[in-house]
Amino acid sequence: MNAALPRQIASRAGLRLDQAPPLSIPLRFFLSAPLFMLAGAALLIGSPGDPALSRYLFPTIALTHLTTLGVLSMVMFGALYQLTPVVAASPVPRIGTARLVHATLCVGTLGLASGLLLHQRHLLYPAIGALGLAWFAFIVPVGLALWRSPAGTEATVKGMRLAVLCLGLVGALGLWIAHGHAGLPFPGPRPLWMGVHLGLGLLGWVGSLITAVSFQVLPMFYLTPPLSAAHQKTLLVAIACSVVLAVLGLTASALLPAQPAASVARVLSYAWLPAAASVWVAMPLLTLRAIARRQRKRADASLRFWKAGLGCALLCAGLSVAAVSREDPRTELLLGWFAIFGWALLIMHGMLYRIVPFLVWFHRLSHLVGIVPVPSVGKLLPEAWPALAFGLHLGVLAAGGCGIWLRSGLLVRITGCLLAALALQLFRALLHLARYRAPTLAGASQN
Ligand code: HEM
Repeated sequence: MNAALPRQIASRAGLRLDQAPPLSIPLRFFLSAPLFMLAGAALLIGSPGDPALSRYLFPTIALTHLTTLGVLSMVMFGALYQLTPVVAASPVPRIGTARLVHATLCVGTLGLASGLLLHQRHLLYPAIGALGLAWFAFIVPVGLALWRSPAGTEATVKGMRLAVLCLGLVGALGLWIAHGHAGLPFPGPRPLWMGVHLGLGLLGWVGSLITAVSFQVLPMFYLTPPLSAAHQKTLLVAIACSVVLAVLGLTASALLPAQPAASVARVLSYAWLPAAASVWVAMPLLTLRAIARRQRKRADASLRFWKAGLGCALLCAGLSVAAVSREDPRTELLLGWFAIFGWALLIMHGMLYRIVPFLVWFHRLSHLVGIVPVPSVGKLLPEAWPALAFGLHLGVLAAGGCGIWLRSGLLVRITGCLLAALALQLFRALLHLARYRAPTLAGASQN
């Protein structure tokens, strides 16, 4: 890639990089993600039996949140601080509060996971406070910026708004349910509340953001043809329909008398059908077709993550059908495993290997083009690292999938070791990029 190409790519995609926040803001979130992955790996190594037995056990729920909050949401928060000014052309007000959000998200996630794991109420209450503060301090400024965006008619911005709305709902519900584990009466039937909470988290928050970002990122980085406006709209409307149906259903079941409430609760899981069909079937099929039709079929290590992640989405669609039709708890666990560690994490992992070098190049090198020799984006990381990370990620998925299916503590421990290796490799890559310094030029400002 020639050194000036990233600028051309950005301007072709209509990005407003001059509005980007300081590099340190997204980087602090990205650098924390592998550390939470490492905590998840320690949990798998130290408590290998439970996470492979049932989704309702506390070690499983703790592992789920070390990953959904500590890794996925951590990366997504950092990405939204970066994307909102650049893609939605609307700077996030009071950007300095991102430091508070980062600190409270870290403390809250650790408190929630350890409080659930060790059954310690005195850890859960501060965790609820910290996560509540993180949610408030993130959603208000980012939501305001997205609301004011002059690019509000673009599908990517609409998808980002939907994602932030779902984030607000999943947090409110999660904090409310967490009170049930901190000694207060549990708010309603547990499977029902948990079903709506996890649907909002995975399909609403994660699904909307991955879908919306794919509209922008795939044509920009991999030169795929963009999805048609009608396809983009249908994908997002399907997710929004599910969110509305699930929230209405949950409200009705909480307010109605017992008998009709039970009937509403029975059909509520079907509310997620449109979103699951959109996020795990239609979006992957349309996107894989666009990838196959891309203009320049250059091999790109980070594209492998997208293809594998989209493949996992299709697997999740099959597993959802199996989970509804079979009583076997392993099917539900496999669905959670491939949704969180496969579909969502593969795509985010690949994006970190693509976007962080791009950001470092823009902040630290772009102003030097034509003044001193500047390396291209692709040269900022050793070439073998993304391929190594991809291999490790596939190893984690395969070992974890077999561990769940065979209920094997040994395989779960092996999964933990592989996950630790994956986390360390990601941390090494991000640290390498964070420490990258531009070729010296007297007086050149560095971020
Ligand atoms: C403020 C943030 C959050 C809090 C306080 C929270 C809290 C909880 C609690 C207490 C449970 C257990 C419910 C029970 O025992 O019945 C739960 C389950 C779950 N949560 Fe969250 N949550 C939060 C955010 C999220 C997010 C953002 C996601 C997804 C991206 C998510 C995904 C899940 C999933 C998948 C389960 C089910 C776990 C399983 O089946 O093993 N949560 N959450």
